[in-house]
Amino acid sequence: MTAPTPLTQDELKTLVGQAALQYVVPGEIVGVGTGSTVNKFIEALASMKNEIKGAVSSSVASTERLQALGIPVFDANEVESLAVYIDGADEIDGNGYMVKGGGAALTREKIVAALAQRFVCIADESKLVPALGAFPLPVEVIPMAARHIARRFKAMGGDATIRLKDGQPLVTDNGQHILDVRGLQVTDPLAFESAINQWPGVVTVGVFAHQKASVCLLGTATGVKTIAY
Ligand code: 5RP
Repeated sequence: MTAPTPLTQDELKTLVGQAALQYVVPGEIVGVGTGSTVNKFIEALASMKNEIKGAVSSSVASTERLQALGIPVFDANEVESLAVYIDGADEIDGNGYMVKGGGAALTREKIVAALAQRFVCIADESKLVPALGAFPLPVEVIPMAARHIARRFKAMGGDATIRLKDGQPLVTDNGQHILDVRGLQVTDPLAFESAINQWPGVVTVGVFAHQKASVCLLGTATGVKTIAY
């Protein structure tokens, strides 16, 4: 007998995107993140579009996908709270602390996550790490502060570079820039997030410790593993 072909990363993303449907509360508005894994969730959510009021989205890209499927998108200011927020991660550790922002949507992601009672992280198993820090840490910054902030990271042992798109600094949905910081050790995610948030010119740091995951649906070779924090 031949061994089954391992699932591709794309198939794992589809699996967790579909598995996240069980956390969507009928009759409510769902918080929707950004990224290739969330895109699978959005596709799956179309099958429930008549059972939900709609979504609050964390990016222009996700808004466009939701609307194209006929799912109404509400402004975050129109809701007081959300039962659930579903989003991916670039890294997630054993406490549900995450690094996010690989898709440059970290600020709106953190805002929508803060509205939600429950953060359901959907990820393939490559995202599960023993400690945060291998993935370059995204930090959304006010452009005039970028060099100053880069020097502060250098003093901590980090190497910060401005994220480019088509040879120019990438401009986020909020009109700001992204620094990607390599070489940092994030040993205390809660303290780290609080500290960096205080720096003038930092809009959002991509460590999600105060808005950590409540549950992670991890796509593995043997299926979806549910990790509750
Ligand atoms: C976007 C994010 C994404 O959640 C993160 O980058 C994971 O993306 P993907 O599902 O494509 O791997 O934080 O800002």
